[in-house]
Amino acid sequence: QIKGFVFDLDGVIANTSAYHAQAWHQLADELDVTWTEDLGNQLKGVGRMDSLNLILKYGGKENDYTEDEKIKYAAEKNDNYLKLLESLDKSVILPGMGEFIKDIADHHYLISLASSSKNSPRVLEKLDLAKYFNERVDPVTLKHGKPDPEIYTRGAEILNLKPEECVGLEDAVAGVKAINGSGETSVGIGDPKILHEADINFNDTSEVTLENIKKAMDQMSD
Ligand code: BG6
Ligand code: MG
Repeated sequence: QIKGFVFDLDGVIANTSAYHAQAWHQLADELDVTWTEDLGNQLKGVGRMDSLNLILKYGGKENDYTEDEKIKYAAEKNDNYLKLLESLDKSVILPGMGEFIKDIADHHYLISLASSSKNSPRVLEKLDLAKYFNERVDPVTLKHGKPDPEIYTRGAEILNLKPEECVGLEDAVAGVKAINGSGETSVGIGDPKILHEADINFNDTSEVTLENIKKAMDQMSD
């Protein structure tokens, strides 16, 4: 029986994944790494330093920079991202997600956040959604980033729930893998061809309702 929901943030609750992509794209240009849609998809859900390393590897430049230089570039990306966040307001909440979160809170499900982003508290506050979240996993305290299951395992633990009692929601391949590894039920939001490993697929957030999730879970157990 489902008792809780563990949420990714960027690309699931808010359209901020587009801002992350824009900021990484800007940095990739600077590093002379060609930006592609495939690279963009690989970066989704992946933490800041891991993302930079993926970009460098993608461009065959993984040995070109010192750790200090990499820290400087990662900080530069974050500055670009924070500039994009300045104008952030409720309009970036993805269709239906505000209503869905309120609905599950009204139905007394427990809710935690499993975002890789260090900026997630700021984003949730700006969207006026922080009040619905019982707990948040602080990504700084993790040993491994997505696709490792750690963040989703912790997302259930901090709610005092077993993974089997939780549904995880993701827009990223790395994130769906992380949910699956944790033993939670995975909901993949986005292109089902890309997110084919998810237990349940929705094309976009407007399809994410308690009713649709329950229906899909019933079909899974048939
Ligand atoms: C994830 C995003 O939620 O957080 C990634 O999908 C981002 O794009 C990662 O790189 C880390 O975010 P931040 O804000 O800590 O750099
Ligand atoms: Mg995401």
